[in-house]
Amino acid sequence: MSKLRLVHCLLFFTAICILLPPIAARGGHSDYIHPGDGNSSFHGIARHLFAQEEPRPSLELTRGYMTNDDLEKAMKDFTKRCSKISRLYSIGKSVNGFPLWVIEISDRPGEIEAEPAFKYIGNVHGDEPVGRELLLRLANWICDNYKKDPLAQMIVENVHLHILPSLNPDGFSVRKRNNANNVDLNRDFPDQFFPMNEDLALRQPETRAIMTWLRNTRFTASATLHGGALVANFPWDGTEDRRKYYYGCPDDETFRFLARIYSKSHRNMSLSQEFKEGITNGASWYPIYGGMQDWNYIHGGCFELTLEISDNKWPRAAELPTIWDYNRKSMLNLVASLVKTGVHGRIFSLDQGKPLPGLVVVQGINYTVKAHQAYVDYHRLLAPGQKYEVTASSPGYKPRTTSIYLGDNAVTADFILIPEASSRGKLLRSNCDCSCKNCGQPLLAQFFPETNNGITLTLVVVVVFLCFLLQRRVRYNLWKQKQSSRRSITV
Ligand SMILES: *[C@@H]1O[C@H](CO)[C@@H](O)[C@H](O)[C@H]1NC(C)=O
Ligand SMILES: *[C@@H]1O[C@H](CO)[C@@H](O)[C@H](O)[C@H]1NC(C)=O
Ligand SMILES: *[C@@H]1O[C@H](CO)[C@@H](O)[C@H](O)[C@H]1NC(C)=O
Ligand SMILES: [Zn+2]
Repeated sequence: MSKLRLVHCLLFFTAICILLPPIAARGGHSDYIHPGDGNSSFHGIARHLFAQEEPRPSLELTRGYMTNDDLEKAMKDFTKRCSKISRLYSIGKSVNGFPLWVIEISDRPGEIEAEPAFKYIGNVHGDEPVGRELLLRLANWICDNYKKDPLAQMIVENVHLHILPSLNPDGFSVRKRNNANNVDLNRDFPDQFFPMNEDLALRQPETRAIMTWLRNTRFTASATLHGGALVANFPWDGTEDRRKYYYGCPDDETFRFLARIYSKSHRNMSLSQEFKEGITNGASWYPIYGGMQDWNYIHGGCFELTLEISDNKWPRAAELPTIWDYNRKSMLNLVASLVKTGVHGRIFSLDQGKPLPGLVVVQGINYTVKAHQAYVDYHRLLAPGQKYEVTASSPGYKPRTTSIYLGDNAVTADFILIPEASSRGKLLRSNCDCSCKNCGQPLLAQFFPETNNGITLTLVVVVVFLCFLLQRRVRYNLWKQKQSSRRSITV
C-alpha cells in the first residue's frame, strides 16, 4: 500500500516538474524581459522568445476536460436549458476562427437595465484551462439555484453577469499559453507606461474583441481566471520604472477589499504562506506590461482582478470538482458585491427632472465613474466602513457633493443637479425620497418652518411637481431591486 503511494507521489511530482513551467500565472517574471523603451518590435520579439521556452502539458492531461467543440455545445445547451435567464452571443473570433462565445445571465438577458454588469473571463492563457471549466459550472449552478439560493437570486435579479469561458481557444487546443500568432494575450493591451503598439488594428483579434466589447458594454467589475498560483491579484500590474514594488492605483483600498472578498470566501486562498491574506498587488509580485487588468481599470471603467485559482495550471480533471467547490462561494460573492456594497444611483436635472449623463468622483480618489448612457445609472464600488465625499457633475449643471457613510450595505444616492444659469435651486436642499412616500407637508414643515403660508404653498406645489416628474422618470428597474437593506438618499 505505502509502496504504491510512494510511486504515486513520485509520479505526481515528476509530472509537476515537467508540466509546470518555471514561470507561473499572469505569466512570466519580468526577469526575462524588460518591455522595450516604447519599442514595439523589441516587445514582440521578447514575447516570442518566452513562448519558445514553454513546455506543454501532456495530451493525457486533457482527458476529462471539454474540448472547444464540447465547450461550444455546453454553452449552447446551457442557454437552451436556461433560456429564461440567459442568452448566448459572440464577441468576435480567435485567430483560427473559433467564436469567442459569451453567456449572459440575468432575469432580462440582452436588455439594458439600470444595473451593474460583471464579466468573468477564463482561459486567457491556453494552458490554463481550469477557469473555463469552473465558469461553465458557475453558469449551471446559478441556473439550478436562482430560485432557492439568495445569492444566486440576487445575481440574476440585480446584475448582468457575462461569462466568457475561453478567450484563447486556439492556445487551448494545442495546450499552449499564447494564441495562434504566438502572442501572450495578457501582454497585448495598451499599457499606461510603455505605449507599445497603441494601434487597435495591430492587436490580436482576441484582444481587439475584448476592447470592442468594453466599448459597447459598461462593466462595473470583472475578473479573469488564471492558474499557476493561488492568489487574488489587483492593480497596478506594472511600475513606471519597471522595478518590483507595491504600486497601488487610486482605488487601492477598493481593490484590496474586492480581492479579500474572493480570498476570504475561498476554502484556503487566504491561508497562503506566500501572499498575506491571499491577495497581492500585481507590481509587488512581479510587474507586467500590456496586461488586461490595468487596461480595464484605466480605459474600461471596470474594476478587474486577476485570480490565480490553482497552483497547478493544468491539474488532472478529477480535481476539478474540488477546485470548483473551493471557488464557488468566492465567485458568487465577488459578483454579488456589486449589489451589496458601494454607492449607486442616478443623476437628474432639477429643471426638467430628466436623467443626466454625468460623472461621479470621490474626494481623495483620482478616478471618475461615468453614468451609463442608457439609464444614466452609476455604480461606484468603494471599501466599506468609511465616510466619503461624493460629487456628481454634468456639463451645464452645478456639481453637487454629499457626504456618505458607507457601512456594511450599499447606498443608493441620487443627485439632483441645478442648471448653471439658474439660482432657484437654492430653495431645494431636498431630502425627498424618490418614491415620494415622504414628500408630504410634515417634511416640508421640517425644512421650511419659518416661511409664511403663501410661500409654503408655492413650495408644496413645486416639490410635489418635482416629485411627480422624478417618479415618472424612476420607473426603471433600479428600484425594482429588493433593497430592503439598502439605504437611499437624494441630494
Ligand atoms: C526598436 O528596436 C529595433 C531593434 O533593437 C531597432 O532597430 C529600432 O530602431 C527600434 N525602434 C525604435 C522606434 O526605437
Ligand atoms: C489549498 O488546498 C489545496 C488542495 O487541498 C492544496 O493543494 C493547496 O496547497 C492549499 N493551499 C493553501 C494555501 O493552503
Ligand atoms: C489623476 O489621474 C490622471 C490620469 O488618469 C493624471 O493625469 C493626473 O495627473 C492625476 N491627478 C492627480 C492630482 O494625481
Ligand atoms: Zn495566466
